Amino acid sequence: MPLNPDLKNQLIQSVGVSHVLLYEDVSSRAKHYWNSDSREAAAIVRPANTQKVSEVLALCHRWRQRVVTHGGLTGLVDGDRTDDNDLVLSLERMNVIESIDSVGKTITVQAGCVLETVQQAAAEQHLSFGLDLGARGSCTIGGNISTNAGGLSVLRYGMTREQVLGLEVVLMDGRVVSSMNTLMKNNAGHDLKHLFIGSEGTLGVITRAVLRLRPPTYSVNTAFLACPSFQGVTESLKHLELTSAGQLHAFEVLWKSFVQLNTDPSHPATTAAPIELSEPYYIIAETRGVHIKQDADSFARSIEYCFEQGWAIDGVVAQSQQEQQKIWAIRENIEVMLEHDPLYIFDISLPIASMESYIQTLNDSVQGLWPGSTVFSYGHLADGNLHVGVATPAAEPPSTAEDQYERVNRLVFEPLQTLGGSISAEHGIGLTKKAWLSYSRNDEEIRLMQSLKMLFDEHNLLNTDRIVSLC
Ligand code: LAC
Ligand code: ZN
Repeated sequence: MPLNPDLKNQLIQSVGVSHVLLYEDVSSRAKHYWNSDSREAAAIVRPANTQKVSEVLALCHRWRQRVVTHGGLTGLVDGDRTDDNDLVLSLERMNVIESIDSVGKTITVQAGCVLETVQQAAAEQHLSFGLDLGARGSCTIGGNISTNAGGLSVLRYGMTREQVLGLEVVLMDGRVVSSMNTLMKNNAGHDLKHLFIGSEGTLGVITRAVLRLRPPTYSVNTAFLACPSFQGVTESLKHLELTSAGQLHAFEVLWKSFVQLNTDPSHPATTAAPIELSEPYYIIAETRGVHIKQDADSFARSIEYCFEQGWAIDGVVAQSQQEQQKIWAIRENIEVMLEHDPLYIFDISLPIASMESYIQTLNDSVQGLWPGSTVFSYGHLADGNLHVGVATPAAEPPSTAEDQYERVNRLVFEPLQTLGGSISAEHGIGLTKKAWLSYSRNDEEIRLMQSLKMLFDEHNLLNTDRIVSLC
């Protein structure tokens, strides 16, 4: 549906004609970072600052116009999906790093800043930012905060929530809630930022943030190990945690099928495996510290011990930054997996001790139902978080793609209830996981989420139907 002409004129008056994109300026944009189909939306509006975001939202509120916020479009639960009835509020022009306090270790940024830009700005001040993930070059801080992104260094620094000290948010009616706290400790009443972190844009639009920075790390030690058993993986984790004096920065597990996929020499986007792939499990472990020689020696000793114990039986310790990058490419390049169609991707939490049998059972059930399927499993082991890609052959009549989707979801989610797991460890609920929310949250929790939505957005206009719907 075209935008109401009065609303359109008022938006143009507010942000300027070149920042209210219509028609082919909308359709020439891609749907998603990994989907080049055309964007469908009534308009894309690009305010330059908080005041303008407030004006745009107040106008949309007055005209009862639905709004979907956009950052880097790298989310994986369809939170950015729009149709012709939605107005996109893009934070792309709000990408300024406003200030850095190198003594208090904080950085103040606008929400449209790309994660990597924040990481680089911190590094220039000899500090580091505690959030890192594969999409670092495209995802934005606003998106990271609204989804409480996890990523590769959660075991050391926690999720995005732990990196946020202060927030500025605009509510759907245009009210600006500025809570730009810079203090580590501030118990003066409710810490309101936590309502917005991880609520996927349903309660307000994040416009600016104060982020916590960390001391720098200069020594980086990375290993790629092959383990004959899952116990070898978990024992290696325990040993590295024990011996790395708080410097364990990442500990990722990869099942063989995922490593094979990402090292397949016949695919142009893959990286060669540094060792033969004869074992069922692989680890990427990394420590980061400040004493280059000492840390490297200590890391080498820890890895050696894993070999002596038989937990790992093959592997490499990277000897250069280039070798480190090659190891990480095996893990981070999820694009090869995303080429499978159909592919059902999941992002689950479960106790580490249950992971091996959980994936084995899932594999067996999926292959039993759809012979020729592959389950690609990998993830942030130390966080109890696995990513699972289920690649099946296309559904054959009388079964439909919807049936298949439903059945795969059940196979993945149902065992999590008994295991005390979660249907979303880090990607959130968005639209795609909403039907399954009750597997991880009880009725009272869901009702309270709906009440909060009503309180913040009584006309149900902002990122509507993400996480929960209002009946
Ligand atoms: C990852 C993203 C998909 O860890 O969360 O690869
Ligand atoms: Zn992840």
